[in-house]
Amino acid sequence: MPSSALAADLDAIARLKRERDAVIVAHNYQLPEVQDLADFVGDSLAMARWARQTSARVLVVAGVYFMAETASILCPDKTVLIPDADAGCSLAASITAEQLRAWKAEWPDAVVVAYVNTSAEVKAESDYCCTSSNAVDVVNAIDPERDILFLPDFYLGSHVARVTGRKNIHVWLGECHVHATIRGEDLAAKAQAHQDAELLIHPECGCTTRALALPPEGVPHHVLSTDGMIRHARQTPARTLIVATEVGLLHRLRRENPDKTFLPAQEDAVCPFMKRIDVAKIRRSLETLTTVVDVPPAVRERALIPLQRMVSIGGASAARAAS
Ligand code: 13P
Ligand code: SF4
Repeated sequence: MPSSALAADLDAIARLKRERDAVIVAHNYQLPEVQDLADFVGDSLAMARWARQTSARVLVVAGVYFMAETASILCPDKTVLIPDADAGCSLAASITAEQLRAWKAEWPDAVVVAYVNTSAEVKAESDYCCTSSNAVDVVNAIDPERDILFLPDFYLGSHVARVTGRKNIHVWLGECHVHATIRGEDLAAKAQAHQDAELLIHPECGCTTRALALPPEGVPHHVLSTDGMIRHARQTPARTLIVATEVGLLHRLRRENPDKTFLPAQEDAVCPFMKRIDVAKIRRSLETLTTVVDVPPAVRERALIPLQRMVSIGGASAARAAS
């Protein structure tokens, strides 16, 4: 039973959604109660695709700022709201458009692939965007003879280079402060304690590179986006799964698979930016129609091209990246 304050917020949100012609799209790392009230919950790629196809006039993005910017760029006719404009991303903050321009000047013939966890200005300087769900497909779609500048996540970039076998990928040294600290040693200890378990690892994790400890020999592991983990969990015969990503994903995994056990690789892998949004802020956002996320037209026009490439390439194939 929700508390009376929560019940009042949920009633108000249902009414405001009708009045405003609004829908709510949430990321897999959002608080459980936010995921439960959303019209759609998914990974970055699925959120972007869903935002594009909805006919609602107002889109509330329960996620971090770059996700709302992405929705705004892809859906210029909708009013895109973020319930807390300070919901940033340490990974997106690890490269500026100015830094990217300087890097491009060193590699004038290279193709720039930007992870979706970047600002709109950085996307505007890029040729392709990708998410963890389709990074391998996007890189495979590029002429093998061309150098690639992959940014900003070092671990995802190294993982993609390993899976595609390309030697001409140059990777920016950025990282997500939540995933970078998920270490192979912690996974190995968990795997030791649960020998029948499978490991699911997000490619932003520090342990996905050879430089850090990978899970112990023989332990089945799969490198997947958050939606890739959801799909894998549904079909695997394994009864216990150790999940190396932000802990918010456990809510959906457990709700959809009540017969399986999901253990976090690290209990304190919590993204403080994702957790800034709560039910009360969503209500306020719908009441006041704030904060509107508007990307300046000159930036939007250029950022739209790599984003359109992102939403049209691959998506469900991250499982291919498995060990
Ligand atoms: P996904 O695209 O797998 O949802 O990841 C987004 C993200 O921010 C991971 O930290
Ligand atoms: Fe950014 Fe990391 Fe949070 Fe994902 S988990 S939104 S990459 S800070």
